[in-house]
Amino acid sequence: MDNAVMPGRIAALENVPHAIPYQGSKRRLAHAIVPLLPSDTGTLVEPFAGSAAVTIAAQHLGIPRAARICDINEPLIALWVRILDEPAALADDYERLWHEQRADPRAYYDEIRAKFNATGDPQFLLYLLARCVKAAVRYNRDGAFNQGADQRRLGAKPDTMRARLIGTSRTLNPSTVATVTDYPAMLLGAAGSDVVYLDPPYQGVSRARDHRYMAGLDHDSFLRHLAEAVAGDVSFLLSYDGSTGAKRYGRPLPGSLNLLHLHLYAGKSTQATLNGLDHHTVESLYVSPALVDRLGGPAGVMARLPLRQAHRSPQALPDGVDD
Ligand SMILES: C[S@@+](CC[C@H](N)C(=O)[O-])C[C@H]1O[C@@H](n2cnc3c(N)ncnc32)[C@H](O)[C@@H]1O
Repeated sequence: MDNAVMPGRIAALENVPHAIPYQGSKRRLAHAIVPLLPSDTGTLVEPFAGSAAVTIAAQHLGIPRAARICDINEPLIALWVRILDEPAALADDYERLWHEQRADPRAYYDEIRAKFNATGDPQFLLYLLARCVKAAVRYNRDGAFNQGADQRRLGAKPDTMRARLIGTSRTLNPSTVATVTDYPAMLLGAAGSDVVYLDPPYQGVSRARDHRYMAGLDHDSFLRHLAEAVAGDVSFLLSYDGSTGAKRYGRPLPGSLNLLHLHLYAGKSTQATLNGLDHHTVESLYVSPALVDRLGGPAGVMARLPLRQAHRSPQALPDGVDD
């Protein structure tokens, strides 16, 4: 069932807006993911939303009738609610913070981080995401945001941020709602015409508590929920693990789930390139049986992908892709 593909880019997605810089964003892979949404998609549900790159891309193309973006991280969802409801006021707040930092950016970042940890206010999170190392949220044992600032950057300029926030809000409204929800409710509550796009923390970084995100993911219960969703004919797409060069993240999902497993080439690994290595990143994308059926079987799935190059044989995959 395995298929290796080198996805091409969709011209209509070149100007898709994005609001939140977020490590792990699927902006690039959205080009390979949104073509797998059937044209009759009711609600696109994104339970591990982060920066909701796939939802924004899908709404930009006008595919689903409605969308739900959900995440366990409360301040992140509070930020999404402001992006949806009052992007201009949020842009004003960001502009004020951005200008205030200029006297002493280093000390100001620490001050805003302390304020964010005391209040959870979403405009502070937006500022922190714009300035922190690799746009990567990090939390300590007590749930406090502890990522440091990237001292080389002041964060996106206010006008740039304003355009992103307002552009994203226009793209998503009025059919998108954002809620704080643990993923099983969203996955198992999906209706027959819905599609759920899952992008959980990867196995390599997930434990009961995950410093990368607010919560980790228990692999065994995740597998149980996936099995339940397959049995309930839920249409879902799942990004889960992959490899960079010889390094593989996580184990492939069990064949008993009967998911169609695509290997998507995501391009050169930026981190490896910085380290002088020529490593490529391959991301796994799994398609549930119900969605494969809706798309006309495995051949129908492959036919929808914007390929840069036709399927390559598994032997041609880089080191570390072994299933
Ligand atoms: C890899 S990121 C998603 C990135 C996203 N696809 C994007 O384009 O930015 C994973 C997200 O899952 C969230 N998360 C972790 N555990 C969760 C849970 N149990 N339920 C819902 N969301 C969860 C994290 O807060 C994080 O935002």
